[in-house]
Amino acid sequence: MIKINNLQKIYCSVEQEVIALERINLEVEAGEIFGIIGPSGAGKSTLIRCLNLLEEPTSGDVIVAGQDLTELTTKELREARKEIGMIFQNFNLLKSRTVAQNVAFPLELAGEKKSKVKDKVQKLLKLVGLADKADSYPSQLSGGQQQRVGIARALANDPKVLLCDEATSSLDPETTHSILELLKDINQKLEITIVLITHEMEVIKEICTQVAVLEAGQIVEQGAVIDLFLNPQQEVTKRFVQGVINADLPKGFLAAKDNDIGDLVKISFIGQSVKQSLISDLIHQYQIKVNILYGNIDKIQGVSFGTLVIGIEGNNRQVNEAIKELIDLDEVKVEVIQNAEPVRSIG
Ligand SMILES: Nc1ncnc2c1ncn2[C@@H]1O[C@H](COP(=O)(O)OP(=O)(O)O)[C@@H](O)[C@H]1O
Ligand SMILES: [Mg+2]
Repeated sequence: MIKINNLQKIYCSVEQEVIALERINLEVEAGEIFGIIGPSGAGKSTLIRCLNLLEEPTSGDVIVAGQDLTELTTKELREARKEIGMIFQNFNLLKSRTVAQNVAFPLELAGEKKSKVKDKVQKLLKLVGLADKADSYPSQLSGGQQQRVGIARALANDPKVLLCDEATSSLDPETTHSILELLKDINQKLEITIVLITHEMEVIKEICTQVAVLEAGQIVEQGAVIDLFLNPQQEVTKRFVQGVINADLPKGFLAAKDNDIGDLVKISFIGQSVKQSLISDLIHQYQIKVNILYGNIDKIQGVSFGTLVIGIEGNNRQVNEAIKELIDLDEVKVEVIQNAEPVRSIG
């Protein structure tokens, strides 16, 4: 649905040049919810604005629904943009217009008949749960309600793609959740492809299927959200992931554990495949003592995964064999953090 080839964006002013984006290559499949995450200043807004040419790329191609936007005439671009809706962090509503008039605005610009506009506005307001607010003004609405108006307006021309620039960043967590639910609903019901940018991993975790990580104008990592959570490669990605799942041990954990709790093993698991009895089987089989020191389970897109840190005490041979058995299991990833007898591999 969207393909970006070798995109570059340089902002030129009299004093300086800012390279905001460099060598960006991206592909977004139809029907996907694709997230782009990055710290402030990474180039996220620039990138998403390049997707509808609100920002003109310095070089590279932006292909949306089969058309290279960078090659279109002004008139063709205006048509092509109807396929691309956009919502913003600060909603960007027209304050002097009512909710219904805000949603009607793009339809009026497109020259639609009054009766059609009225019908369409009603449908859209119903879709976003604001049928009773048609005659209110933006200032009379909560942030979440204002974003719903923004979403209804963005959908007015039946776009194939919806771009979301930090659409939930000025909302509280509960409202964020409800807006993300609405976006999911729209993605499924209307089969709209969604590209969203955010600096919050929580948002990615909640609704995205694919994610790209942007840092200093470049995509440093991308893939399925679940893969990125389980195996982040880059430092910046690790920081984002740790912020929401605590897959790593709490700070100071290793330093604090000078009391003798035996060999330390970190077990990471994914999916339903993990036997509940894993630990108790081990205890019985090897006559060892197991202390559960840290545990954490989370769910991403219906797949549960988690981390468990155990301390294993017992005689060396038994402990070693127990660890070896753990390492040999396919369904878990095992990392020996500390052992009394060295030389054990990571499995
Ligand atoms: N209109 C502009 N003129 C000059 N520099 C800009 C402009 N817009 C953004 N930048 C610069 O480009 C970089 C990326 O900005 P932006 O895309 O807004 O990042 P993000 O949305 O990730 O915070 C920053 O260094 C920013 O200062
Ligand atoms: Mg931004």
